[in-house]
Amino acid sequence: MQQTRCAVLDAIADGPVAGPTLAEQLDVSRAAIWKHIETLREEGFEIASNDDGYELVSVSEFGATAVEFGLAAPFEIEYHDAIPSTNERARELGSAGDSDVAVVADEQTGGKGRLDRAWSSPSGGIWLSILLRPDVPPAHAPAFTLAAAVATTRAAREAGVDAQIKWPNDVLVPAGDTGETDKKLAGILTEMEGEADRISWLVVGIGINANVEVDDLPAETAATSIRAEVGDVDRRVFVQRLLEEFDALRADLDSVVPAWREYAATLGQRVRIDTPGGEVIGEAVDVTFPGTLVVDTDDGRIEVTAGDCEHLRPASDGSEASTDGDQAN
Ligand code: BTN
Repeated sequence: MQQTRCAVLDAIADGPVAGPTLAEQLDVSRAAIWKHIETLREEGFEIASNDDGYELVSVSEFGATAVEFGLAAPFEIEYHDAIPSTNERARELGSAGDSDVAVVADEQTGGKGRLDRAWSSPSGGIWLSILLRPDVPPAHAPAFTLAAAVATTRAAREAGVDAQIKWPNDVLVPAGDTGETDKKLAGILTEMEGEADRISWLVVGIGINANVEVDDLPAETAATSIRAEVGDVDRRVFVQRLLEEFDALRADLDSVVPAWREYAATLGQRVRIDTPGGEVIGEAVDVTFPGTLVVDTDDGRIEVTAGDCEHLRPASDGSEASTDGDQAN
C-alpha cells in the first residue's frame, strides 16, 4: 500500500497531475487515487488540488510513507507513534517470517538497552529496529552491529554532529579537551535467532537521542542529543541516510571494519573492558572482523569479542577514571 502511495507522491512531486491521469498511470481506479490522496494528507503530506490536478507541496515530517518516499534502500517501513519496543516488534515480525523491515517509532514506552538495562526513549527520538535474514554464519553477526554504528555515525555527521564510535557499538560525542566526559548519542542492541551454522533472523535495534531534551534522558549518565549538539534534525532524512548506509555495508561485510576504524574513538585509548571471562585493561590497538577488539595488556595481546568497554584517562591522584557515560535507566 505504501508502495502505491509513494508512486502517487513521485508522480505529483514535480507539478500538478490530474486524478484520471494518475489513475491511468498507476493502473488503479480514480476512487483509489482519491483515497490515497486523503490518506497522504492525514499522514501530514500537504497536497494542493486545483483545476490542473494534484500537486505535492510538502512532505510529512515522519512516518512510514514519509521515510519510504525517496528511500534508496529496499526496506519496508513500519511506523508507530508509540510502542513498547521496536526490537520486540521486529522480533515478532522475524518469527512470522518477515525480512528487510525497519520498525520506527517516535516514542518507546519499554525501550530495551544492552545487558538487560532499560533505554529511555522519549517522543522526538529515533527508535529504530532493522529486521534482516542474512545468509552468513552466526559468528559474523557482530559485523551488522558495527555496520549499524557506522551508518548511524555517518548520518549524525551529515547532520553536523561530531560523532565517533566507542567499541563495539556506542555512538558518542567526544569530550575532546573540554575536561568533561564523552557523551552518548546513540546505542545499538542486536538480537538474533538461529542455529549453530545459520542465522534465522537478526534484529539490529538503534536508539538515537535525536530531537529530545537531555533533561528527559537519565540524569545519572552522560547522554547528549542531536538537539543539544546542533539543534533539531530532519528525522525522515536521518533515517533514510542511516538505512541507505546500512544497506550498502551489509551488502559488503568486508567494508564494515575499515569503515568502523575511520570513526573509532576507542583505538589508541586505554580501556577497561568487563568481559564474561573477567576484566581486561590495556591499550585498544585494533578491531578485526567481525568486530573483535585487540587490546595490548601488561600480560600481552588479548582479543576481546564481547564486553562493556570504558575509555580511561589518568586521574589527578594517579588512578584511572572513565571518560564516558553509558545511558541507561
Ligand atoms: C544500549 O544499551 O546502548 C543499546 C540501546 C538500544 C536501544 C534501541 S532503541 C530501538 C531499539 N528498541 C529497543 O527496545 N532497543 C533498541
